[in-house]
Amino acid sequence: MTPLEGFSPTLLAGRNAFVTGGGSGINLGIAKAFASVGANVAICGRTAAKLDTAAADIRKLGVDVVTVAADVRDAAAIRAAVDQAGADLGPIDILVCGAAGNFNAPAESLSPNGFRTVVEIDLLGSFNTVHAAFDQLAQTRGHILFVSAGQAYLPWPHQAHAGAAKAGVENLMKNLALEWGKYGIRSNSIVPGPIAETEGLKRLSEPIGEDFWLDCVPLGRFGSIEDIGAMAVVLSSSIGAYVTGCQVVVDGGFALPGFGSIGREMQKVTVPGEGGR
Ligand code: COA
Repeated sequence: MTPLEGFSPTLLAGRNAFVTGGGSGINLGIAKAFASVGANVAICGRTAAKLDTAAADIRKLGVDVVTVAADVRDAAAIRAAVDQAGADLGPIDILVCGAAGNFNAPAESLSPNGFRTVVEIDLLGSFNTVHAAFDQLAQTRGHILFVSAGQAYLPWPHQAHAGAAKAGVENLMKNLALEWGKYGIRSNSIVPGPIAETEGLKRLSEPIGEDFWLDCVPLGRFGSIEDIGAMAVVLSSSIGAYVTGCQVVVDGGFALPGFGSIGREMQKVTVPGEGGR
């Protein structure tokens, strides 16, 4: 049985979801998971052609899909995208802040602009998005779901930029749960572990290899994109109606021992040039 098989196909019928970074990977998987239980979706990303391909895939599930091209770092552009999605589909019930950027770079060779770029995409981009969507979410008493990372709470070599950004995202998630509960808005995050066939796993495991990572997962397998999509459905549907301010770790136990073993191995790797580019 796959993770999504147990859900009613109408669990999110009539709801509208807006997913940043929705053109590929885990975020596209979340959009498809919502669509598989009846939600209409708007996917947002930087590249229109990538969004169009993803949208055609999601439409096969029989829901309405719109694409809105915008960079989350551009507050005006993301506001226009959120407004467009609301006009096309109706007010947003579920907002997924999934857009992220990452690469391996030792702190000493990471440029200030490299650090800022990741913080701008992950943290400032998330704020730009929730800020733009507030009126719609207040109207629907909606749900905000942040896609976070274990680096937010455990230090990880060559990940100072992503760790700082995601730690900020986690704090934003909790703060919004506190402040916007009075509007009926919930706010939670998912922390995906190593998920097979994703850009994140490919990029981050590259210096020491996926096999080493696999050895570090207590459940003995990489997660699937559907594992994350299923948890996104749980948290965004009536099943999660009383859950807010929570960081939900979906990682097969990956972070339980800390990142000690991966950290030791990563420290042995010499990353050449400017942060390994
Ligand atoms: N190591 C060190 N620094 C890096 C780097 C790397 N591998 N990749 C980019 N940078 C630095 C650049 O050198 C630049 O800093 P500089 O001006 O001081 O040289 C800065 O980051 C911005 O790079 P740029 O390529 O101009 O940014 P961008 O906005 O085009 O791209 C990234 C953003 C860098 C995050 C890019 O990797 C991206 O678009 N990623 C999206 C997908 C992704 O990361 N998915 C994985 C999610 S886990």
